[in-house]
Amino acid sequence: KDDLVVLGIETSCDDTAVAVVRSNGEILSQVISSQSELLARYGGVAPKMAEEAHSLVIDQVVEEALDKANLTANNLSAVAVTIGPGLSLCLRVGVRKARKLAGAFNLPIIGVHHMEAHALVARIIEHDLHFPFLALLISGGHNLLVLARDLGHYIQLGTTIDDAIGEAYDKTAKWLALDLRKSGGPALEELAKEGNAQAVKFSTPMKQHKDCNFSYAGLKTQVRLAIESRNINPEIPISAASIQERSSRADIAASFQRIAVLHLEERCERAIDWARKIDPSIKHLVVSGGVASNKYVRSRLYTVVEKNDLKLVCPPPNLCTDNGVMVAWTGIEHFRMGRFDPPPPADEPEDFV
Ligand code: KG4
Ligand code: ZN
Repeated sequence: KDDLVVLGIETSCDDTAVAVVRSNGEILSQVISSQSELLARYGGVAPKMAEEAHSLVIDQVVEEALDKANLTANNLSAVAVTIGPGLSLCLRVGVRKARKLAGAFNLPIIGVHHMEAHALVARIIEHDLHFPFLALLISGGHNLLVLARDLGHYIQLGTTIDDAIGEAYDKTAKWLALDLRKSGGPALEELAKEGNAQAVKFSTPMKQHKDCNFSYAGLKTQVRLAIESRNINPEIPISAASIQERSSRADIAASFQRIAVLHLEERCERAIDWARKIDPSIKHLVVSGGVASNKYVRSRLYTVVEKNDLKLVCPPPNLCTDNGVMVAWTGIEHFRMGRFDPPPPADEPEDFV
């Protein structure tokens, strides 16, 4: 069990991602096929089309990941695959592929929770990251504060009561008519650099709720109203906006980002207090998920952990957004503890899943 090589498959949303990882943390290969064309055209993820896009590329992405790792499926110890949460049509493409591969090569299979994977991938890059630790997971669909006490033992301290922060970034980017060929978050982060973060007065969500939950629906509405009152026309792409119009959009972007992240800071402060009451020995705050690749988010949370005598662990951007490495790695962690399913029968029908 010391030298495992696991292939991880992630298809929960719009990226088809596969990686091969060794149990010492070495990443042997990492391949991602993203649906940025589709995203830009439809302004979001359409499940049926996303499913088709996954189906079209999945065989090729797996093959490429094995090739780049200089391995064949025979060399693998196991196959790990995201089983949720996510778009069920999309998840199924990954699970089918994983079962087919595992069945054909007689490999054990490990079903992985997408959010657990976002948190545990931090242990690849930070070798001192032992349980218990606190994790803030921020992505397009999730906003979670979790006390990770042990592998498979998590206490949820807070979650969103409506939207996740990534969703708020994506909608704001769309309303400001930013270039969505990348997802909205990175485009908004870029524009915010040009703006004045004090220009628009947005109020911080859930001030009166002394808990660790999040809410972004109200901030989204505040942003929409600010956009309407400034007569910003979302039909005009940012590249075609006048200098004045561009600076007005940048002010909204910067002001939105300041409050969206301030909300994270306030909740993290409280979560640290709560977590310490349960596990006084926590030393790390892990911040992961797509939004954790944002530099402003990182720098603000860095000041929070400094103040509280913790260490911030933020995986590099390509391990923060959805990827196959986190799935393979979480598979390794579970496999080592004996948590896996036996190989599926080689003749299992495709539509079994
Ligand atoms: O974890 P992820 O790749 O997929 C989900 O599980 O949702 O996260 C995607 C989300 C999107 O909402 C995207 O706009 C956001 O992460 N994101 C960012 C940045 N990079 C990705 N948000 C803000 N700033 C960024 N630099
Ligand atoms: Zn994710």
